[in-house]
Amino acid sequence: MSKKLFETISLHSNENPFGPSPMVLEAIKKYSQDVHCYGSWKPKTLKEKLASKYQVSPNNIAVSAGSYELINLIIHFLVNRDEEILTFDNTFMAYRYSAKRNGRKCVVSNMSGLECDLENLIPLCGENTKAIFIANPNNPTGTIVTHDSLRNLLETIPSNILVVVDEAYYEYVTDESYPDSIQLLKEFPNLIILRTFSKIYGLAGARVGYGIASEKLVEILENKRLLRSINILGKKAAEAALDDVDYVRRSISHNLKERKYLLKELRRLGFTVGDSHANFLYLPFQNNDQKNNVYQILAKEGLMVCDMEIFGQNNSLRITISLNEINQRIIDCISQST
Ligand SMILES: Cc1ncc(COP(=O)(O)O)c(C=O)c1O
Repeated sequence: MSKKLFETISLHSNENPFGPSPMVLEAIKKYSQDVHCYGSWKPKTLKEKLASKYQVSPNNIAVSAGSYELINLIIHFLVNRDEEILTFDNTFMAYRYSAKRNGRKCVVSNMSGLECDLENLIPLCGENTKAIFIANPNNPTGTIVTHDSLRNLLETIPSNILVVVDEAYYEYVTDESYPDSIQLLKEFPNLIILRTFSKIYGLAGARVGYGIASEKLVEILENKRLLRSINILGKKAAEAALDDVDYVRRSISHNLKERKYLLKELRRLGFTVGDSHANFLYLPFQNNDQKNNVYQILAKEGLMVCDMEIFGQNNSLRITISLNEINQRIIDCISQST
């Protein structure tokens, strides 16, 4: 294997550039001595910690092996074969993939530029619509839908349609118009909130996600989940991650500062980059040749960004915001190419 392969830097999956928190590493080390044992059937302590953080009952929390597992459970068990899901065309591909793998139809609404306009979903809700998936912030464009627009959607559509808000990046959002989805859940039991330990908590490889929803929906999802799908190290790592408040705070302020730096520099270089509320930037190009050129230049330096072709989108890249030194390398490389 060439030396280069060892030097690549992942800027394609929106992981936390700080690496795991020291408290998480300590917990993993401590509990690694117990890996010969099964964990408890239900992640009781983790559920209790999450419930107390969000001021809900542990019965409103479904823990899963990453949010992917919950997305799949929702589509497999809450959407019947003859029913459909509805989402946007330039959003997280897992909704569409999961629908396809489960033989469910996925209807897509066009984006309004980089925005997910919830008003556009309303006329697409038909008799067979069972679940709407909204990534907020949206991956890959980094835009958000507001509290008022989410409330309006929930008030307008029939209450038998589930609204799944995937808030994988919610900890990074500082905009005041962002939804207080837990508040909305009290009024709208058809709302399901998805969150994860994979992003700001730096635990993508540990595979722990969770949903916050009505007790009824949580019970269904928990009963359908594979028995023991959450491993003890992931569980203990997630508990420790919740305790490391300082790591989360540092991650938020680092991201804000570096996002501002990258945006300013990319705009100075002539790119039209939209504001992002998450830990990544969406970079549109005039054509695929320009995009491929920048992708190749970065890849040669081991800076592996995400080509949006995997989302079915031409002419764009998504770049995870990283450490300052790496972000400067990105700008240096791109400036040399323009
Ligand atoms: C919007 C969104 N939801 C969910 C996930 C996956 O999260 P998890 O690692 O918890 O399965 C991602 C990962 O990139 C994401 O961007």
